[in-house]
Amino acid sequence: MTTIAVIPGDGIGPEVTAPALDVLDALGLDARTDVLGHVNADTYLRTGQALSEADLDRIRPCRATLLGAVGDPRLGDTAYVRSILTTLRLELDLYVNYRPVKLWHDRLSPLREPSRRAVDCVIVRENTEGLYSGVGGSTRTGTDHEIAMDVDLSTHQGVARVLDFAFSVARTSVCLVDKANAVRNGGQLWQRCWRAAQDRHPHVATSHLYVDAAAMRLATDPTAFDVIVTNNSYGDILSDLTAALAGGIGVAASANLNPTTGQGLFEPVHGSAPDIAGAGTANPLAAILSVALLAEHLGRADQAERVRGAVAAAVARGHVTPDLGGSLGTKEAGAAVLAELARA
Ligand code: NAI
Ligand code: MG
Repeated sequence: MTTIAVIPGDGIGPEVTAPALDVLDALGLDARTDVLGHVNADTYLRTGQALSEADLDRIRPCRATLLGAVGDPRLGDTAYVRSILTTLRLELDLYVNYRPVKLWHDRLSPLREPSRRAVDCVIVRENTEGLYSGVGGSTRTGTDHEIAMDVDLSTHQGVARVLDFAFSVARTSVCLVDKANAVRNGGQLWQRCWRAAQDRHPHVATSHLYVDAAAMRLATDPTAFDVIVTNNSYGDILSDLTAALAGGIGVAASANLNPTTGQGLFEPVHGSAPDIAGAGTANPLAAILSVALLAEHLGRADQAERVRGAVAAAVARGHVTPDLGGSLGTKEAGAAVLAELARA
């Protein structure tokens, strides 16, 4: 039996995790959950540490972890959130951030041109290096003469392995997105690794776009893309754009993966949304779709498809939260998906 670690987290994290766990339950996977309810901002405020060595010891043996969201206005944004998300990504070496986006219903698209609405693509984002590597520093901090530096780190191994993953999940094509014309050293490293990856996967169609052009293309015709592979920061930004094209942050799911060890961390793309926490209106679909990714990861693509079918049906009926134009609360929207699952 597989053990799934669960970190509900803060704000709307626990609110969306509850219906996601109900869906997980309904799938009848051969799995049990280990819920780490204390990994949150309260624990951090009380002890200065939210994720302890003992917690990591519980998470490390699990093939999958489900995370709601972390973040708390009392703590500001950097140290606390990094102490959980970055620690997990680095400890488990989750070097792929896999973000599929699919338009669940025509009415959710912001695009004017109907023939271009049906986005169905995947952003594969490098997840352990780049601008978010934490390498850098500042001098004369806080003065008018401050100089701050954050290093955009790329390693040959880091780039090669994420490119290989992108090719492995391609259905029709892989598009490399970078800014090799302006970011010279890292850009050339990515380009060299890209040519080598193309040679290793000669049967997959490929293309290349600079990130600014990619943003424009995505905003006008996202149907042109299958898999987009890019670095940590560009992937962060472009995946919010693709989320918006598919109905918004409330339906965007993600998987942080290490394809070598087979470990994964599954989470909605959104954060703890303090502005709506406690209101009971958070959209649970991103967390539920993260459970679909988790099921797929555990070898149950059939169950993942069942979940996606149920989500599509609930959206088609308008049984959704206010962010998608409905009037249901989190619990009711979760129950609507469960009802569709039972019907299927
Ligand atoms: P956010 O994603 O929490 O919220 C952005 C906007 O989207 C807000 O207006 C929020 O109400 C709305 N929203 C988010 N999820 C929603 C849902 N499921 N249903 C309906 N509306 C939803 O991003 P924000 O406000 O920048 O960050 C809040 C906190 O979360 C910060 O502390 C941040 O560091 C943290 N954060 C954590 C992440 C994680 O746990 N993976 C990811 C992003 C942010
Ligand atoms: Mg982001």
